[in-house]
Amino acid sequence: MNLRIEFATVRDLPAIVNLVRQLAIYEELEHAMVATEDDFRRALFGPDRQAEALIAFTGDAPVGFALYFYTFSTFLGKRGIYLEDIFVEPAYRGRGIGKALLRKLARIAKEQNCGRMEWSVLTWNQPSIDFYRRLGAVTLEEWRMFRLTGGALEALGK
Ligand code: COA
Repeated sequence: MNLRIEFATVRDLPAIVNLVRQLAIYEELEHAMVATEDDFRRALFGPDRQAEALIAFTGDAPVGFALYFYTFSTFLGKRGIYLEDIFVEPAYRGRGIGKALLRKLARIAKEQNCGRMEWSVLTWNQPSIDFYRRLGAVTLEEWRMFRLTGGALEALGK
């Protein structure tokens, strides 16, 4: 398998939308996936870039991706990487592509002097939990994630 992990370019926008949609379907959250190619164009390649993406290619075909952005830890006094999404096409799983994406991200974290990498996973997504544990990642059992959105966000921001 001729695997390459590359930083995403504007050419990869259709593939990114497709891979994010496949991930949303896998997570049973397709209804929540409203992002468009233009949203990703702005977020990944616009003047005020908010996130970055890595694409896994076998030959010329994009078969997986990881999308991330930088966080900051006051306790560490350093930035970190937040992995928003990782996805490998079903037919290409179990061949080391997911690991190659996260290895590249760990290298970026080292180069950028980051203190850590973090992400969240749905509680029922056991295959991915096993995959992450295998890489040495640990779950933060004592922490809960909060989200403020929709009407509550609107109301608080008034
Ligand atoms: N159970 C146990 N171990 C697993 C595993 C599983 N289901 N899937 C992978 N692993 C192990 C592999 O055996 C390998 O271990 P090794 O290096 O010791 O041999 C290691 O994890 C890397 O596996 P790899 O082949 O690189 O994983 P992948 O290319 O299949 O990618 C995912 C992993 C999770 C990205 C991929 O399965 C995927 O896209 N899943 C659906 C989407 C998803 O759940 N994304 C994460 C949302 S939080």
